Amino acid sequence: MSNDKPTLLVIEDDKGLQSQLRWHFEDYNTVFAENRQDACAALRMHEAPVVIQDLGLPPDADGVDEGMKCVRDLLRLSPNTKIIVMTGKTGHEHAVQAIGLGAYDYYQKPVDPNALDLVVKRAFHIHSLEEENKRLQQRNQQPLEGLITNDEQMLKICRTLEKIAPTNVTCTILGESGTGKEVVARAIHELSPNATKRFVAINCAAVPENLIESELFGYEKGAFTGAAKQTIGKVELANEGTLFLDEIGDMPLNLQAKLLRFLQERVIERVGGRTEIPVDVRVICATNKNLEQMVADGSFREDLYYRISEITVDIPPLRERNGDKVLLARHFKRKFAKEHGQQITDFTADALAAIESHRWPGNVREMENKIKRAVIMADNKMINCDDLGLCGDHNALSLNLRQVRSEAEKSAIVRALCITEDNISAAAKLLGITRPTFYDLIKKHDINIGNAS
Ligand SMILES: Nc1ncnc2c1ncn2[C@@H]1O[C@H](COP(=O)(O)OP(=O)(O)OP(=O)(O)O)[C@@H](O)[C@H]1O
Ligand SMILES: [Mg+2]
Repeated sequence: MSNDKPTLLVIEDDKGLQSQLRWHFEDYNTVFAENRQDACAALRMHEAPVVIQDLGLPPDADGVDEGMKCVRDLLRLSPNTKIIVMTGKTGHEHAVQAIGLGAYDYYQKPVDPNALDLVVKRAFHIHSLEEENKRLQQRNQQPLEGLITNDEQMLKICRTLEKIAPTNVTCTILGESGTGKEVVARAIHELSPNATKRFVAINCAAVPENLIESELFGYEKGAFTGAAKQTIGKVELANEGTLFLDEIGDMPLNLQAKLLRFLQERVIERVGGRTEIPVDVRVICATNKNLEQMVADGSFREDLYYRISEITVDIPPLRERNGDKVLLARHFKRKFAKEHGQQITDFTADALAAIESHRWPGNVREMENKIKRAVIMADNKMINCDDLGLCGDHNALSLNLRQVRSEAEKSAIVRALCITEDNISAAAKLLGITRPTFYDLIKKHDINIGNAS
């Protein structure tokens, strides 16, 4: 059956050569196209891993080189497809140009099928190696210690953290409350060369304004009333390790200047002290405030802003992470059930639907709290909406794959018709399907066509 054979797309307008190639490449499912438009449609429909393309396609009405245009269009459609361009005797320069555009190899006519065979075989082989490599890379997309996720954006962030960790850049982690900013900061520390040293956190919003300076930089005995003995601040404590400045957006303006000085000079002075003490720490900041806005309205120093945001990491809210809600719910369920010695198997279907559709304004922290409560409240082995306190919160969730597919199908058809101004043939081509299939789908989805061609 041709379906089991790998597809080889041949773009060639010489009928004689077409039948010669069809006959020769009988181990492949050969598909032919004679011009650029048909070639693009065929590539869309058959997703051929390898293409043999005659580079000498007749130029279009404007005299533009169709051969080059075709190479460019095909690669835009499918960057991993291997295109072997065929040229006439004098086409060497052209062939080099096509390779420059991204074609895989070239072959000079006249065709010796056996020689071409080798080139084609190798192209299929390389294509399959590349695909395998891509699959393996995706499988290796593991999150980091302490960070549960399966979301593509979050996994990308994990890879960024791995790159940041060995350097000493000061980075700022942005994200709504409860998104895991501290988890990320700790992950950077754990991956850094200073992992064995201290991770010292200070929450700038939680310490009273008049105490932040002494908390950060420490103080000498007698520096102020009640300073009974010399005390080391958090910055010094973190020496050689990581200093985590949480809620940096809440740092009072007068202290921002002192912090900036420390970040620039890497020395501190204890309150009431006179000596400069050198400190070698890695600084990570976090905030749920919009620092850019604060800079604009004058509540955050611009110079400090640029100093701390050498790299910023934007953590997406939980509601925007794909698949993470249920993943995290199950993770916390296991954790708390174990902690409380409860036998809980899973969530009811309603509970899962509620978890998926709740907006999670408090993000992962809210999830953690709700699951903890549910594990304690559950009377059964299954956690339900009541246990979660999410009753009446959810709309019926559509995860029925057939329905999701059908909706996507309809919207693609409507868009294709829109783009082609209701030209059925062109729309079918754009979607990589035949006209009859297209008509069936229009009927199935009851789509109205204005001026059907
Ligand atoms: N991806 C995750 N996997 C597992 N646990 C997580 C994850 N993200 C966050 N948590 C947990 O959720 C809670 C909140 O995380 P964290 O304190 O890091 O959030 P935050 O962004 O610093 O919040 P805030 O802005 O309120 O300080 C913590 O208990 C943390 O362990
Ligand atoms: Mg935090």
